Amino acid sequence: MPRVLLLVPTATYRAPDFVKAAKALGVELVVGSEEAPAYAAGDRALAIPLDDPGAAADLIERLDRDRGIDAVVAVDDQGVVAAATAGERLGFPHNDPAAVAATRDKAELRARLAAAEVPQPAFGTSPDDVGYPCVVKPTGLAASQGVIRCDTEAEYDAAVARIRTFWDGDLIVERYIPGVEVAVEALLHAGTMTTLAVFDKPDPLVGPYFEETIYVTPSRLAPDTLAHVEQLVARAAAGIGLTEGPIHAEVRVDGEECTLIEVAARTIGGLCARTLRFGAGIALEEVVLRHALGMDLTDLRRATAASGVMMLPIRRAGTLSAVNGRERALAVSGIVGVDITIPVGAPVVPLPEGDRYLGFVFATGDSPAAVEASLRAGAAALDIVMT
Ligand SMILES: Nc1ncnc2c1ncn2[C@@H]1O[C@H](COP(=O)(O)OP(=O)(O)O)[C@@H](O)[C@H]1O
Ligand SMILES: [Mg+2]
Repeated sequence: MPRVLLLVPTATYRAPDFVKAAKALGVELVVGSEEAPAYAAGDRALAIPLDDPGAAADLIERLDRDRGIDAVVAVDDQGVVAAATAGERLGFPHNDPAAVAATRDKAELRARLAAAEVPQPAFGTSPDDVGYPCVVKPTGLAASQGVIRCDTEAEYDAAVARIRTFWDGDLIVERYIPGVEVAVEALLHAGTMTTLAVFDKPDPLVGPYFEETIYVTPSRLAPDTLAHVEQLVARAAAGIGLTEGPIHAEVRVDGEECTLIEVAARTIGGLCARTLRFGAGIALEEVVLRHALGMDLTDLRRATAASGVMMLPIRRAGTLSAVNGRERALAVSGIVGVDITIPVGAPVVPLPEGDRYLGFVFATGDSPAAVEASLRAGAAALDIVMT
């Protein structure tokens, strides 16, 4: 039975879905995380310092000598550099660790994309470099945390002061790019990209904060626009130096113009991967494990006509006291799942400070429009009670 080391950050939504995929595939998992995780027992878990890739790779080499492992897979951003470093040492399919590190640093990412002449927002360290409207963001966060649009100098000053309450690292300032946004889920193999899904984000993302809400696939963009988007993402991956494994990218489309916002060396975040099934029904996590192990990837076509997810918006700060209407939401035509990911009694924090999703509503349907309608109706059926 092949054995895979899964690198799992403490705050991830993804681990259970990888465990399920490994089971379906007949793969043994060893789980490496900063703390011994509750879902794996005994010698199937070991402590790995994800933020120290050299030390992590030393431990992974020792694990390979003692037990033998066949692949290292990072389930989220925090483990990707450790996985690449260990993969390089052990001869597994891997990305260049420096390329992966660039995906975790928005300034380094922009520098690499600029060197490769990939269309992207003008960027710098001050609005003077790019003009208004601009977007200011921490270089090392994710999930839109601390990403703020500013139309004036006063807004910029206020945004920086606000970010400084929770981030003391570098900031990047970019020109604001108008248009609609799509997310591209793809798999790299020996430098060649296969697109797995393109998601439309039908709610306007104009700021000042950029809360993720609805993702629906397939995209309703015109085929030639989609081809342009895919080419842009492939060029971006190559420009960054990524060659192996899953990537998740965001692209803004304004008429004919496609602009690369970001590329991450991982699958889509939160629980959004649950919208995807391939071929005879295999999960995205199974695709990732198969790729890491050099197994047959057969059919990477999406299995459903259309599907989508809505990340439940967080309207204000407070304490979650109840989520009512789950049955009503699940009874809405097309709705296939409702997952609340913040426990009752826990604090709920909106953007720009928040870094957790309140929950997810999932839908499938015959068309993207039907899925979008189901998601809106499903979310409206939920009554999120806060104090
Ligand atoms: N330069 C920009 N112009 C327009 N929108 C932007 C820009 N940068 C970021 N955004 C918006 O903010 C979101 C989050 O920014 P991103 O750079 O992807 O950081 P994160 O790592 O938090 O996802 C993007 O998906 C996009 O909607
Ligand atoms: Mg992003």
